[in-house]
Amino acid sequence: MKTDPKTFHVKSFGCQMNVYDGDRMAELMAAQGLTATDDVNAADLVVLNTCHIREKATEKVYSDIGRIRKHAKADGRSPMIAVAGCVAQAEGEEIVRRAKVDVVVGPQAYHNLPQLVRRATDGSAAIDTDMPAESKFGALPARRRVAPGAFLTVQEGCDKFCTYCVVPYTRGAEVSRPFAAIVDEARALVDAGAREITLLGQNVNGWRDAQGRGLEALIHALDRIEGLARIRYTTSHPNDMTEGLIDAHAQVEKLMPFLHLPVQAGSNRVLKAMNRSHDRDSYLQLIDRIRAVRPDIALSGDFIVGFPGETEAEFEETLGLVDAVGYAQAFSFKYSARPGTPAAGMAGEIAPEVMDERLQRLQAALNRDQAAFNAATAGRRCTVLIERRGKLAGQMLGKSPWLQSVHVMTDAPIGSLVDVEIVSAGPNSVAGVELVQRAA
Ligand code: 5AD
Ligand code: SF4
Repeated sequence: MKTDPKTFHVKSFGCQMNVYDGDRMAELMAAQGLTATDDVNAADLVVLNTCHIREKATEKVYSDIGRIRKHAKADGRSPMIAVAGCVAQAEGEEIVRRAKVDVVVGPQAYHNLPQLVRRATDGSAAIDTDMPAESKFGALPARRRVAPGAFLTVQEGCDKFCTYCVVPYTRGAEVSRPFAAIVDEARALVDAGAREITLLGQNVNGWRDAQGRGLEALIHALDRIEGLARIRYTTSHPNDMTEGLIDAHAQVEKLMPFLHLPVQAGSNRVLKAMNRSHDRDSYLQLIDRIRAVRPDIALSGDFIVGFPGETEAEFEETLGLVDAVGYAQAFSFKYSARPGTPAAGMAGEIAPEVMDERLQRLQAALNRDQAAFNAATAGRRCTVLIERRGKLAGQMLGKSPWLQSVHVMTDAPIGSLVDVEIVSAGPNSVAGVELVQRAA
């Protein structure tokens, strides 16, 4: 028998969807009367909300569990440990066998966390990795106080089956939440303090409802919510970038000029082997169409280097594509074989030192372009959503429309929108000067 936990800590790894899930699990446990603690080593219940997308994520989870246990033992405590997220989905019972955790709960089942915790108090592990047809969302409590920039999951899962990726297996098939449920949650977020909402989905631009409406319909609906100042969405697949959605970037002022549109590689042979279902030219044409309606749009992407069989010439095609697009920011990764994916069985493994060298060259190009993008915004005027305090007295940090981090000296509180002129730019952030001095 274990005693009922009184305090909890949720630690999320990986993507923004995991951050969202982690927040919702925290709300769920708070609604059960548990108190959140920032200190992982003080909590009676630790929820590790895991990611399985790359590298030795699974091993990291086991070493995290070991560390938490060791610390707890030294203090004479024995916290309950719940493993959630994509590693929970992929590993299931194996986690209980190896690490004797109390709860294992998959990304589509975490609404059952309170019951699982209750079941685990009798001493036997509680596991739920079901992917029920009924969505978990209806069973989650209402949103509480939220930060000025809030996430809202509208779509989950993936049917694209890129050959390197575990998401279709850990998150399941593509499912879109209903229109009305999303708009209601957006309103609740705004009532709880959100000024900006980022619509989330593994293929967010693949969102479709039963009436056949696409993501732009949701964006137009959110546009009408009073008090909501900014809308963003992520992550998008090039093939789901419809004309209606592109047009929304010209029509909806609240829709921020930023688009994360992963390409992964610049070579058609590699893209085909990845089962990306777009090619280099169709991607570049898409970028042209988006820039035609929203010339100032900041573009972001994801890249994988060292996919099985990638030659030097093919890698150079990725560098060429980077040059052609000019990304404002981007994420780049070394290919990592994921058990059970088609690419894991492909021939042509790339040597680690070649991967390292390619990643360095790619990141040098991406960093150069990010610095150039930031430098080009110097002199522009824009609004900044203030998100937190800076290090210096009177300094606040926020985001520009182009998702740059902006420092500004202002007495405006967190959650306000401040008009600034960008006066200087660094590689990872820019400095703004407030245009209208407000009353203290
Ligand atoms: N190896 C390396 N990177 C990967 N990604 C997904 N799966 C893998 C993998 N097996 C990257 C892709 C994706 C991002 C979220 O993670 O670039 O867009
Ligand atoms: Fe993974 Fe490809 Fe789906 Fe993105 S689109 S989640 S990379 S399978």
